[in-house]
Amino acid sequence: MTKLAVFGAGRIGRVHALNAAAIEDVSVARIVDPIASPERDALARCLGAEVCEPRDVFADPSIDGVVIASSTDTHAELLIAAAGVGKAIFCEKPVSLDFPTVVSVAGAVTQSGVPCMLGFQRRYDPNFRAVRDRIASGAAGRLEHIVMHTRDPAPPPVSYVVRSGGMFRDQAIHDFDIARYLLAEEIRTVYAVGNCLIDPAIGEAGDIDTAMITLTSVSGRFVQMVNCRRAPFGYDQRLEALCEREVIYVANRPQSDLVVASASGFTTAPPMNYFIERFADAYRLEMEGFIDLLRHGTEPLAGMREGVEAQRLAEAALASMRSGAPVHLDDGRWVPDAV
Ligand SMILES: NC(=O)c1ccc[n+]([C@@H]2O[C@H](COP(=O)([O-])OP(=O)(O)OC[C@H]3O[C@@H](n4cnc5c(N)ncnc54)[C@H](O)[C@@H]3O)[C@@H](O)[C@H]2O)c1
Repeated sequence: MTKLAVFGAGRIGRVHALNAAAIEDVSVARIVDPIASPERDALARCLGAEVCEPRDVFADPSIDGVVIASSTDTHAELLIAAAGVGKAIFCEKPVSLDFPTVVSVAGAVTQSGVPCMLGFQRRYDPNFRAVRDRIASGAAGRLEHIVMHTRDPAPPPVSYVVRSGGMFRDQAIHDFDIARYLLAEEIRTVYAVGNCLIDPAIGEAGDIDTAMITLTSVSGRFVQMVNCRRAPFGYDQRLEALCEREVIYVANRPQSDLVVASASGFTTAPPMNYFIERFADAYRLEMEGFIDLLRHGTEPLAGMREGVEAQRLAEAALASMRSGAPVHLDDGRWVPDAV
């Protein structure tokens, strides 16, 4: 039996805890969340888990791994603590909102040698993964450019915005990661423009709600990202990869496959409403990936390196937007040994 502890019983912690517990011979034995709530206690009951303090997890030799799905500002400390006692780690992105902290924690965790995986679940989405596999197989020919759309169904509340680290670090970080995943190389130039076009309260809180970001890879290929906090029809999550012989599309996934046709036209269901539904398969598969890492050492699709590099692009986008000029990055990156 593989025994896990889950930190954070909120939106995503619940998803990970239930996915982990559904895997054969995995038990979520402990839940840590300092905010007592009926949801936390119901989750613990449903898993047969004990609600406890962090120190109980780190002192318990029977716990093989931890799932860190608590608020972002707790990740760095929990990562260091878990690595210090040799627990395998699954941690949600981002490691921290402060980039120097991301780099130093990545260095420390890497040097500790504990198996560690980060929550870039889009890599485990069967569609996104199929695009990568098709390009890697050579079937499509050389990838030349990518266009990606990420639009949330509706702007988040300002209380969320002020703690999010801004749209680049909070939302676009998944697109930066997918750009690197599909290109299979690093980015050399980031050029970002952004504005607050939807909700003035987001602007007053110092953030943007609409951005266009152009990435140029080391070999000169392009990615056009469209990131936005609203789409009138729901969650908009699409991609097209133009290759030498094919264009590969990932379309929005509808809530049902029903099509109603009448004299006034064809009506289809709206897209799955938000990330918990849209990426349900991806969250399940990434948790299976974590258990494979823990049990067999299988390399995960996203580790500390992906966390550092995606966030480096988010920082560059912010700098580009503020300066109005492209930001040029060095080619040689990810140097955990030098940390
Ligand atoms: N990969 C993804 O698709 C994805 C999606 C959503 C959230 N996230 C990330 O997951 C994290 C959690 O997001 P969420 O939406 O579930 O937030 P949430 O606010 O719903 O849940 C966070 C939970 O952490 C708890 N918590 C706070 N301090 C804690 C501590 N010291 N120890 C244990 N628990 C603690 C809170 O009480 C809360 O219940 C964030 O870092 C977020 O960026 C990733």
